[in-house]
Order: sequence, then structure tokens, then C-alpha cells
Amino acid sequence: MDYAVVNILDYMELIGEESVVDVLSGFSCPKNKEIENFVRNNAVEFAKRKMSITYLLLDEYSRVLAIFAITHKAVQILGTNLSSTLQKKIQRYAQKNEKTDEYALSAFLIGQFGKNYQHKDAPVPDGGKMMEAVLTILKHVQREIGGGVVYLECEEKPELLNFYQNEKNRFRKFGERLSEKENVNYIQMLRIL
Ligand SMILES: CC(C)(COP(=O)(O)OP(=O)(O)OC[C@H]1O[C@@H](n2cnc3c(N)ncnc32)[C@H](O)[C@@H]1OP(=O)(O)O)[C@@H](O)C(=O)NCCC(=O)NCCS
Repeated sequence: MDYAVVNILDYMELIGEESVVDVLSGFSCPKNKEIENFVRNNAVEFAKRKMSITYLLLDEYSRVLAIFAITHKAVQILGTNLSSTLQKKIQRYAQKNEKTDEYALSAFLIGQFGKNYQHKDAPVPDGGKMMEAVLTILKHVQREIGGGVVYLECEEKPELLNFYQNEKNRFRKFGERLSEKENVNYIQMLRIL
């Protein structure tokens, strides 16, 4: 592996908060301005407040190649939106309201996930490798405290839906959420860790 996966809080301890803010100010993701904005303006503050922890994929020159941000959050899932196999699996982690057919659970959330397009010649890992890095960390957390469902929300774009649903990543759609603030319809997807 020619990159390191570094917790932003560890990195702040190592090089100082100001330097991390400076490094992240150059993060560029033209395909997803929400991620760009998050990394530039919120990642440090969210980590300090323990709202979500951003991980930086750094190459040997300490260039940020990609980032992801993870946390855990309560989520409601309509049973009819899941296959019966998936329903069986999430029952371990969820409470079902029989009247509404809704599962309520706390799950790991991948809040942000994106490459940095700032350095043209940098060895940015592909999305599959980035996802492996996320799952490695979540499996470690799972071993410490339990839990087993991972979810994310992504824009309704075929490229992204195909990526998350491919054979390796295996996320499955369970709902949609309209963000009025951003006027974007997000597709909600989950997988068992
Ligand atoms: C999502 C991502 C990690 C996947 O990485 P990957 O599997 O290595 O795939 P690629 O980066 O080669 O992208 C595959 C295709 O999807 C397209 N694509 C990726 N993100 C896109 C987006 N947000 N909007 C539109 N198209 C996008 C790419 O342009 C590429 O298209 P092409 O093959 O015609 O060039 C990476 O594309 C990325 O960082 N995208 C921008 C950030 C983002 O949108 N993250 C998802 C948030 S839910």
C-alpha cells in the first residue's frame, strides 16, 4: 500500500490543527462540491466535536489523495424496502415496529467519501481500495463495541449507484431522502459489515 490512512485527530496532534486546516484548504472535488466544502470547512471542527471523524489517505509526500468521514447515527428503514435475507440480517441490530413495519437502528454512516483531484500526478487509489480502508476501520470499531450495519446517502447518479452496488461493495438501496436545503434527492443504501 503506497498510502497511509490517518485519523484527522491524530494528524492534528502530529502536525497541529492550523497545518491540517491549511492542507485541507486545497482539497478539490469538482464532481462533488459538497465533499469539497466539507473537507475545506467542516472536517476539522466536526472531528473536534466528535460529530464525525474524517480519515485522510496520505501518500509518501503527505499529499491528501482521498478522504472519507464516518460516524454512527440512528436510521429508520421500511421493511418492505429490504429483501427478506437482508431483513433477517438486520434484525440482529434493529428493533422492528410491527405496526409500521419500520426498523429502527443505530448504524455506521459513511458521511463523506471522495477523491482529491488537487494533485494531477498523485497515485490516488481507486474507489474500491478506499472502501476497503473504510471497512477495515469499521470492522475494528465493530470488534470493540459491536454493531453491524453500514449506510450512506448518495446522489441519484448511475456512476455512483453502480459503484456502491457493485459485487465488491454490495450496498443495497433502502430508501430516499429529499434534502430541501440542498434540493437534492439522496438514495440511501446499506450493507451488512
Ligand atoms: C466515488 C469514487 C470514490 C469512485 O471511485 P472509482 O471507483 O475509482 O471510480 P472513478 O473515480 O473512476 O469514477 C467512475 C466514473 O464515475 C464518474 N463519477 C464519479 N463521481 C461522480 C459524481 N459525483 N458525479 C458524476 N460522475 C461521477 C467518474 O467521472 C467516472 O466516469 P468515467 O468512467 O466516464 O470517467 C470517486 O469517483 C470520487 O471520489 N468521486 C467524487 C466524489 C463523490 O461523488 N463521492 C461519492 C459521494 S456519495
